Amino acid sequence: MTYPNQQVKPISTKINDKGNLSISNIDLLDLAKKYKTPLYVIDKPTLEKMAKDYIEAFSIYNKTNILFASKALMTGAVAKVLASLGLGFDVVSKGEMFVLLNAGVGLEKSSFNGNNKSQEEIEFAIDNRIDHFSVDNFFELKELNSIANKKNKVQKIHLRITPNIECHTHDYIKTGQIDSKFGFPLDKIDKAVSLVLNEYKNLKLTGLHAHIGSQIFETQPYYDLVSVLLNEIKKIKDKYSYELTEINIGGGLGITYTKADNPPSVFDIAKIVVQSIDDNTKKLNLKKPILYIEPGRSLVCSAGFTLYTIGSIKEIENIRKYITIDGGMADNPRPSMYEAKYEAIIVNKKEENKQELVTVAGKFCESGDILIKDIELNNPQSGDILCVFDTGAYCYSMSSNYNSSLKPAMVMIDEGKDKLILKRQTLNQLVQNDIID
Ligand code: LLP
Repeated sequence: MTYPNQQVKPISTKINDKGNLSISNIDLLDLAKKYKTPLYVIDKPTLEKMAKDYIEAFSIYNKTNILFASKALMTGAVAKVLASLGLGFDVVSKGEMFVLLNAGVGLEKSSFNGNNKSQEEIEFAIDNRIDHFSVDNFFELKELNSIANKKNKVQKIHLRITPNIECHTHDYIKTGQIDSKFGFPLDKIDKAVSLVLNEYKNLKLTGLHAHIGSQIFETQPYYDLVSVLLNEIKKIKDKYSYELTEINIGGGLGITYTKADNPPSVFDIAKIVVQSIDDNTKKLNLKKPILYIEPGRSLVCSAGFTLYTIGSIKEIENIRKYITIDGGMADNPRPSMYEAKYEAIIVNKKEENKQELVTVAGKFCESGDILIKDIELNNPQSGDILCVFDTGAYCYSMSSNYNSSLKPAMVMIDEGKDKLILKRQTLNQLVQNDIID
């Protein structure tokens, strides 16, 4: 059995009677006409399936709290769907907290992460009753204690640590190695704990947190991570007679962007994590901790796709044929940042079968704005609609207004129904902060 994070396309992708690509019983050609392109689309049934898979997979350990890593995709409508299934949120900025609150989602199940939280952000999180902070460094410990003190509050915290675990992924999205800007190195944990227990009376330390990287295809690093966290908890218990009761293992589970990717399922991850908890709590004589996980990509990515219209086509004989779309690095910077690979299909071309090797170029003024290098497409022509899969995570959230382009709209589809959940930006919004003389 394959799970959505192991599939390139949303769960109900098919070709309909008209010969067009359809997802959730929505004809994607009609959708592109109705909302124009570029268009981000989220398939609600796939999104819900991914969240329910997480819930089911971790039901083998009933002390689990699932926090969606908001940085992967932050819109009010998506947050509401995930909150309604009982998930909390990992937030990293006042902006992310604001989007949640604006959607009517409270912060009482959420964790505030980040390596340089401002005073204003700290105050905002406390005032809006965030469940806990994952404190990243000594500067923040002091700052948070002093703000909590002024507010007469004892704030629950975890310490984010750098566990020194190697996972094989792109260097830019690795976070667990020693040379990382995130977290307390292992040899500084003792000092941090001692400060919290002895000096910072407005902080209540309940657990340790770590995140080892993103788009991970192995299960062993998760076993090792739980071992590191529980070993540190044991050292703290032995020295301070104080047992931390919570661990947060971050996110990172990979997904299948192209057929070359082969990630484990969330069930494989749950099994190895719980195995490690069992083994290590027995070995170290510790209580079974409350477990937090923070999936981002593997919760939303496969539910999302982007529709583009093909415009100009340039053929350099015997070298390459460029198919240019009406979007690119401004709505999906991942290929130019991480050499990320994607799969795509022409929405309106079932009957023909003239596969051609082409390169999909973006429209932005950079040679590096290539969305997909070398892909077989079915007789691509100007005016055709191209569907690029797996754009649910880190595309809208990392989009920009490069070349003064407007950010695309986002639509949520659900069994024959479509709903606009994010309006396309307007030219007026582009200049609304301009001050002219
Ligand atoms: N928890 C923490 C503390 C994180 O820093 C991250 C991601 C996550 C959870 C969620 O990780 P995920 O399950 O999504 O792998 N922009 C890059 C990914 C950066 C990930 C940053 N941190 C990309 O487009 O591939």
